[in-house]
Amino acid sequence: MQTVSNILSLRELRRNWQLSGQRIAFVPTMGNLHAGHLSLVKKAKANADIVVVSIFVNPLQFGAEEDLDNYPRTLAEDSEQLAALGVDVLFTPTVSDIYPRGLEQQTFVEVPGISYMICGASRPGHFRGVATIVSKLFNMVQPNIAFFGEKDYQQLQVIKAMVTDLSMNVEVVGVPTMRHADGLAMSSRNGYLTDVERAIAPAIARVLSHIKAQIESGNRHFKQLISEGNDELKEAGFKPDYIEIREAFTLQAASFEDKELVILAAAFLGKTRLIDNLQVSL
Ligand code: PAF
Repeated sequence: MQTVSNILSLRELRRNWQLSGQRIAFVPTMGNLHAGHLSLVKKAKANADIVVVSIFVNPLQFGAEEDLDNYPRTLAEDSEQLAALGVDVLFTPTVSDIYPRGLEQQTFVEVPGISYMICGASRPGHFRGVATIVSKLFNMVQPNIAFFGEKDYQQLQVIKAMVTDLSMNVEVVGVPTMRHADGLAMSSRNGYLTDVERAIAPAIARVLSHIKAQIESGNRHFKQLISEGNDELKEAGFKPDYIEIREAFTLQAASFEDKELVILAAAFLGKTRLIDNLQVSL
């Protein structure tokens, strides 16, 4: 595996792959890799000749009060895991490579509507930061196909909308969430949890599973299901941010006729904000 931090060197490699007609898969990450990320890399390996993984903790997608400075950075371990999976290139640009004119002057990509709701309402500017970095990384890597975890369900829909709106020549594929044995969705932020919080954390997946089972058995009292879910989260020790039942692609409020739904939740456990979601196909 080659580690490249320079954009020009990456472009040089990219030109050679293109000349030899190789198909390129891309997995953008912020590092601190866990089995969820590795499942994206395995999918990428199975779908292309060349796999590029990026590790870049993107300041543009963190709010002023958020965990940018504390975000776990584990490059040596990440690099070993990626090499073991046969990744071709690990791209590790610096903040000044990515934002040479500074964050204040940065041109940004904003996907209206879908970026402002749910997590976007709680984290203003977050999806603008995500859309901007992902479009920049797409411009640098120019992949044929790119893989994103469904754990960040809204992010995946924002990126799909961006690719459609800007006619980007890349196929965006969502990969199912990996979970621990107790149901907790894998996430780099789980590492912030104390032992007591870690024991409570799977409640978020249990609440989502209960709502899913209710909807599948014909319950359409969405407001009531959400309200009961919030109560259960509170009882477990969470401070809920939201539970939402939405149409799976537009993320608009679900109607009784919708057949593809997604139940999304975000909740604080101490200082850690956890998110999770479950899709429902009726
Ligand atoms: O999901 C993530 O890790 C990040 O939001 C991404 C897509 C790598 C952009 O920084």
